[in-house]
Amino acid sequence: MKKTVTVVGGGAVGLTVAWTLARRGSTVTVVDPRPGSGASWVAGGMIAPYSEAWPGEEELYRLGVESLGLWEGFARDLQPYADGPLVTSRGTVHLAVDEGDAADLQTVADAVGDPAVFAPLRPSAAARAVPGAAPRIRAAATAPDEISVDNRLLHRALRAACAAEGVAFRAEEVGGAAALDGLPGDAVIVCAGADSAALAPGLGVRPVKGEVVRLRRGPTCLPPPTVTVRARVRGRQVYVVPRADGVVVGATQYENDRDLGVRIGPVVELLDDAFAVLPFLREYEFVEVAAGLRPTTAGNVPVIAPLGGRVFAATGHGRNGLLLAPVTGARAADMVLKQEVQAWS
Ligand code: GLY
Repeated sequence: MKKTVTVVGGGAVGLTVAWTLARRGSTVTVVDPRPGSGASWVAGGMIAPYSEAWPGEEELYRLGVESLGLWEGFARDLQPYADGPLVTSRGTVHLAVDEGDAADLQTVADAVGDPAVFAPLRPSAAARAVPGAAPRIRAAATAPDEISVDNRLLHRALRAACAAEGVAFRAEEVGGAAALDGLPGDAVIVCAGADSAALAPGLGVRPVKGEVVRLRRGPTCLPPPTVTVRARVRGRQVYVVPRADGVVVGATQYENDRDLGVRIGPVVELLDDAFAVLPFLREYEFVEVAAGLRPTTAGNVPVIAPLGGRVFAATGHGRNGLLLAPVTGARAADMVLKQEVQAWS
């Protein structure tokens, strides 16, 4: 059964949807003026449903755990198209600096409720897992099954994998909801990240800005951690995600700021927090600071749903686009192909 599909948006989610549909026999075109220039470009790359767990976010948690279960196969199938290892580290170590931070860590542990996947760690064990970490840590935890990936390498691999399956790319803007009607295909899927707000205003996707810093290890520096380090530092959060040659430090978070200018004060605070737990990062070379817009929904759960007629949505992934890409690809492809079965029966 063949279907012709237009995917609007060429970020990690859009390309995963396109690739999944193409592998299932559909003829797919991705429309995006600058594929991969949105949130996928800035992402830290944490595939981390346990670390993101929080009371009230059970649906997001379940979806994230399901997607983590798909990630090994997803990464294995994509690796031949990648120009380096996609998975850059395994395991997350959490560090909590004060009593309040330790209480927050306990809240995450309680939300997960399974010490096999998120467990307390003695500070001495955390110090062994993260050489060079600051000694004054109130509490620690580990999520050994989480991974991290290089977001930019992942996007390049997805483009190559899509091309190998015959996915076509059109470098064009789609100018608002009305323009969706003019796109060809049996189905049109909106995977446009923060731009989904204009294409499908009824979804309630809003941009939540974040800044992320990239640092490179200098010749005399300690190596990057071999695990992702997530720290709570006197009420603020910071993550340090390993890359082959350095780390990604993230992320600020702002509502109601839609431009991509970098605000220096919050970025300095972010780096201060990273240095508080990993002092050796002070010696790293500064590479870049970039801002992006997380496409966020009211409940933090993505919208993978028909929008009426031949238009569908797979968007609104907030902080978790890379984590949720495989499950979104599978569900979006099922949704579009199932619609075909229904229409033909
Ligand atoms: N993916 C983590 C963040 O949005 O900062």
